[in-house]
Amino acid sequence: MTTELDRLRDQALADIDDASSLAALDEKRVALLGKKGVITAQLKQLGALAPDQRKAEGARINAVKTEIAEAIAQRKQTLEALALERRLEEESVDVTLPGRGRRPGAAHPITQTRERIERLFVHNGFEVVHGPEIEDDYHNFEALNVPPDHPARAMQDTFYVDGARLLLRTHTSPVQIRTMESRQPPIRVIAPGRVYRCDSDRTHSPMFHQVEALYVAERVSFAELRAELQSFLEAFFDTELKLRFRPSYFPFTEPSAEVDIDGRSLGTGSGWMEVLGCGMVHPRVLEAAGIDGERYTGYAIGMGVERLAMLRHGVTDLRQFYENDLRFLSQFV
Ligand code: PHE
Repeated sequence: MTTELDRLRDQALADIDDASSLAALDEKRVALLGKKGVITAQLKQLGALAPDQRKAEGARINAVKTEIAEAIAQRKQTLEALALERRLEEESVDVTLPGRGRRPGAAHPITQTRERIERLFVHNGFEVVHGPEIEDDYHNFEALNVPPDHPARAMQDTFYVDGARLLLRTHTSPVQIRTMESRQPPIRVIAPGRVYRCDSDRTHSPMFHQVEALYVAERVSFAELRAELQSFLEAFFDTELKLRFRPSYFPFTEPSAEVDIDGRSLGTGSGWMEVLGCGMVHPRVLEAAGIDGERYTGYAIGMGVERLAMLRHGVTDLRQFYENDLRFLSQFV
């Protein structure tokens, strides 16, 4: 026989199962088991029953009450688990995605190369000195024994600033003169910096960088120049090198040489590749700068930073250094 209590119980269990949120479930709990709830009302009616019925009916109501309370607790657990699952899904972080990270910055490859050259020479006892980029004709040409009709003086090579008196230095050699004017031997310096020539193609830029090395003391010999270059170039290229000294001409050195390295030892070239110019400082240059050319001798080296960077990194177009394309630059980080 289905009683009123049985109906109440079935309805209650169905409602609990239907409750779709914790709030709705709690509302249901109050409506069933709260002070004014329907089950509570059933218990209150017990007083009206005959004492012999009261006990059995009370036990029945209490059993239903317990069953409902358990159903609520179970539904609550289910709803809480669902809520947690939904939250985890919404707030989930895919730890397998690549991070955004921060890309480290780095010095420009030309700066890196200049610093590498400086470091190696400083290691060998040279001091870094600087001179002006806007030079006068005297320091850039005349004191360096460059004759007035030398082609380097022509308008198409040199940027003149102020008529013919001031110019953008065409090499770092004027810093040799300025250094010798201001101190006496022993002098062991390098002068890095920007230089300018009216020239532009795959291997020439109107502005580029040189490092000048100058060593003046008593009895400085060409053999020492060779030893210094062997040591520097092998350290710079990080490999054993065969050097070739090719006789050449610069007005401010005598004898003069251009130095080639064997491209095969770098793995980038096949034959001899020119890397720099050098020579023994011309006595006339020493004398012009106020140094006793009888007592002292010296050597000078001039090298292009871009050229050394190109050889070291296998770059074939110098203009890439000035385009600031990050795909190029980021290879030197
Ligand atoms: N100043 C020369 C140039 O720019 C290079 C050089 C420097 C050569 C020192 C010999 C000695 O071409």
